[in-house]
Amino acid sequence: MTAAVRTSRVSKSYGAFVALKDVDLSVEPGERRAIIGPNGAGKSTLFSIIAGQKPPTSGSIFIDGADMTGARPDQLWARGLSRTFQRNQLFQNLTVWENVELACAAHHRGLFKSVSRDALDDEIGGVLERVNLLGSHDVRVANMAYGEQRQLELALALAGRPRILLLDEPTAGMSPAETQAMLRMMIALPREITILIVEHDMDVVFSLADRVMVLNLGEVLADGTVREIQGNRNVSEVYMGKAL
Ligand SMILES: Nc1ncnc2c1ncn2[C@@H]1O[C@H](COP(=O)(O)OP(=O)(O)OP(=O)(O)O)[C@@H](O)[C@H]1O
Ligand SMILES: [Mg+2]
Repeated sequence: MTAAVRTSRVSKSYGAFVALKDVDLSVEPGERRAIIGPNGAGKSTLFSIIAGQKPPTSGSIFIDGADMTGARPDQLWARGLSRTFQRNQLFQNLTVWENVELACAAHHRGLFKSVSRDALDDEIGGVLERVNLLGSHDVRVANMAYGEQRQLELALALAGRPRILLLDEPTAGMSPAETQAMLRMMIALPREITILIVEHDMDVVFSLADRVMVLNLGEVLADGTVREIQGNRNVSEVYMGKAL
């Protein structure tokens, strides 16, 4: 099967500092892959390179088998790849509904005027239902709880009807209850969406992921099934001797 996302010997240097070194990643269509590793391991950098926000210093990126090395974020987006960020990227002064409407409109772009109001409303409503925010549709983002804002970020990523979704620490800063709500939401996403998730919460990783890649100091330390990673001694050592 052709991988949905594949990187071949991707490296990234900032001057003399090597943030990523020869990273090979291969994610099957429909797979849910977690990327874990200590702070500074290069996880977000790898996402930025896959999503076209940073060029690799060397190496190649393939989406559904097509070489997309050097492609712009909008070109990757047009191929069905969508990314959320570690930091909040919402319009704070607009409502929940308006934020999703903008994302849906961006998705339709040139065809926007040919989409009926009803069809657009259905689309926005569908996205909000998926992240349990339909009831808060008229709330201004600035007035929402932190966990709900992060749910809305997921909604914006879903508005593009992605086939490949990159989630960078979706539960960071959340309370245990908010984390559980976000986890349920991610588990309930359609199975045909390929998901790459960077996540520090191991309960989330092991509940969601089919396979896990471990980065450490820019290099792949391990890559395997959840069970293989849980039993990997090198991985436990990197996590300061804690058993996973
Ligand atoms: N523009 C830059 N210039 C120099 N160094 C950078 C730049 N961007 C990232 N780095 C460095 O590259 C390394 C990897 O950063 P990255 O953000 O990918 O780590 P991460 O694994 O996502 O960490 P975290 O878990 O803290 O989010 C870090 O040491 C970081 O300081
Ligand atoms: Mg990061």
